[in-house]
Amino acid sequence: MQQPENAVKAVPTPPRERIRVFDTTLRDGEQAPGFSMSLAQKLRMAQALAELGVDVIEAGFPKASDGDFESVRAIADSVRGPAICGLARAQNGDIEAVARATAKAAHARIHIFLATSPLHRQHKLNMSREQVLETGFKAVRRARELCDDVEFSAEDAIRTEPEFLIQALQTMIEAGATVVNVPDTVGYTTPEEIGALFARLKREVRGIDTVVLSAHCHNDLGLGVANSLAALANGARQVECTIGGIGERAGNAALEEIVMALRTRGDRFRLETGIRTPLLYPTARLLGDLVGATIPRNKAIVGENAFAHESGIHQHGMLKHRETYEIMRPEDVGFSRTQLVLGKHSGRHALRECMSNLGHELDETQLDAVFARFKALADKKKEVFDCDLDALALGMDPESIGPWKLQHLHATTHLGNGASASVKLRHHDGRLCAEAALGDGPVHAVLRAIARAAGMALDIDDFQIRSLSNGADALGRAAITVRHNGRELHGRGVSTDIVEAAAQAALEVINRIERLHSGQSLPIAANQA
Ligand code: KIV
Ligand code: ZN
Repeated sequence: MQQPENAVKAVPTPPRERIRVFDTTLRDGEQAPGFSMSLAQKLRMAQALAELGVDVIEAGFPKASDGDFESVRAIADSVRGPAICGLARAQNGDIEAVARATAKAAHARIHIFLATSPLHRQHKLNMSREQVLETGFKAVRRARELCDDVEFSAEDAIRTEPEFLIQALQTMIEAGATVVNVPDTVGYTTPEEIGALFARLKREVRGIDTVVLSAHCHNDLGLGVANSLAALANGARQVECTIGGIGERAGNAALEEIVMALRTRGDRFRLETGIRTPLLYPTARLLGDLVGATIPRNKAIVGENAFAHESGIHQHGMLKHRETYEIMRPEDVGFSRTQLVLGKHSGRHALRECMSNLGHELDETQLDAVFARFKALADKKKEVFDCDLDALALGMDPESIGPWKLQHLHATTHLGNGASASVKLRHHDGRLCAEAALGDGPVHAVLRAIARAAGMALDIDDFQIRSLSNGADALGRAAITVRHNGRELHGRGVSTDIVEAAAQAALEVINRIERLHSGQSLPIAANQA
C-alpha cells in the first residue's frame, strides 16, 4: 500500500548492545573486612555467579596467599560458563601464579594492575611515568605469552593526568591487552566527569576499538553505580561490580543495581547484560549467608523493603495498580511477590487483603470492627504479625492466641560441641508437653525441641535473626518461613534474647498450623468481629 507523502515514518529503535559483567565479589569484595570466605564458600559463590550469568568471575589474587591461589585454582578447575580471572601486580611472579592457577579454566584471564596517578607513582611505586609505561608494557607482554585474554587496569586512573592515562592505555593495547580498565580506585569521580573521560578515551586512545573498554567504580561518595552507568553510556562495554556492592571501604558498584538500571531504563541506555535477573535476590542472599551479613532492609533491588509497602496510601495504590509505586516486578529480581507490611500506617484495603491471604474473608461490617482494633494494636506494636491478625479475626486477644504457649525455655551452648535446649509448652486444652533436643547451636536446638514438643515436623524454608537496635541488650527479631501443604507460613518473634525470639517465631507457625487443622482460621462469623 502506498504511504501518503506526509506520513510520519516510524523511527526504528536501535538494538540493545550486549555489555559484559565482570564480577569481582570474590576478589575486591572478599578482600574487604567482614567478607572473607573459605575455599568451599568461594566455590559455592562462584557456582552461583556462573548460574547468574556473569561474563567474568575475578576469583582472587593468587600471589597474595596460598589460600587465594588454591581458591582460584579450584574455581578455574570446576566452574564453567564465565571466564575465570586472577589478579596480578605488574610482576612476572604474580602473572605466572595467575597462569598456573587458571591453567584448567575453559577461558582464563590474567588481570594486571599498575597505578598511573601522580600520587601513586610518587608515594607508592616511586616510579617515573616512563618506568610505569615500561613496567606495564613488559608485564602485559609476559601475560600474553601465557594467556590469550589479558586485562590491564590503570589503578587510580581517575586521578591520573588524562594525557598520561591515554598514553598508558595506548601502550598496553600495543603490548597486547585485550581489555583496558579505568578504575575509580578511591571513589572520587562524578557521573559527569567520568562520562566525559570515557568519551575522550574512546576518541583519543589509539586502538581503543580493538579492545574492550571497562569501568571499575568504588562507592566512597555513594556514586559507584551512577558513575558506572555514566561510563557505560559513554563507551564502556565491560562493567566491574560486586554482589550487594561489597568491596574495599564503602564498596564497589553493586551488580544488581547496574543490571536493573540498564534493564528498567533500557529506553535511555540501550544496553543489555546476560544476567538472569530472577537469580539476583537468591545470589545476594547466598552471599549474606556465606559471610554472615544481613542485607540492609532498604538496599536497592535485593533489600527486604525493596518491594514492601506499609503506608496506607501506597498500599491502596498498589492494590489498585502495581505500577503506581513499583518500577520493577518483584519476581524479575527473585522476590516471590510484593509485600504489604501491616503497621500503624496501613489502611483498610491492605488489612482486608492480608486477612484474605490468611483465609479470613471479611465483609464491610466485620472489616470496620476489626480495623478499629487493628489500629489500636498497631499503635502499640512495631509490627503486626500473622498471629495478631488471626487473633483479631477470631475475636480473641492477640496475647492469648494459641493454642500453644511457651512455659519454660532453657538453652545451653557447649563450646565446640553444639548446643542443647529444653522447652515446656502448654496447650489451651490443658496439656503440658516438655521436650529436649540437641542442635548445632542454641537456636537450632530450641527449634527442634519446640517442634518435638508440639508433635510437628517443621519444613523450614528460611530462618533469619537480625538485631533491631544497637548494643549488647539489643532487641533481636527472628523470622521463620515454613512450608506446609504447599503454603508458605511466616512466624516472627522479638526479644532481647535471640533464642527466645526464635522460639516465639517457631511457635507462631506451629500455632498457625494447628489452627488451620482445627478450622479456626476459616472465615469468621459476624459476631466474632
Ligand atoms: O580499585 C582498583 O583500582 C582495583 C584494581 C585492582 C582494578 O581494584
Ligand atoms: Zn577496586
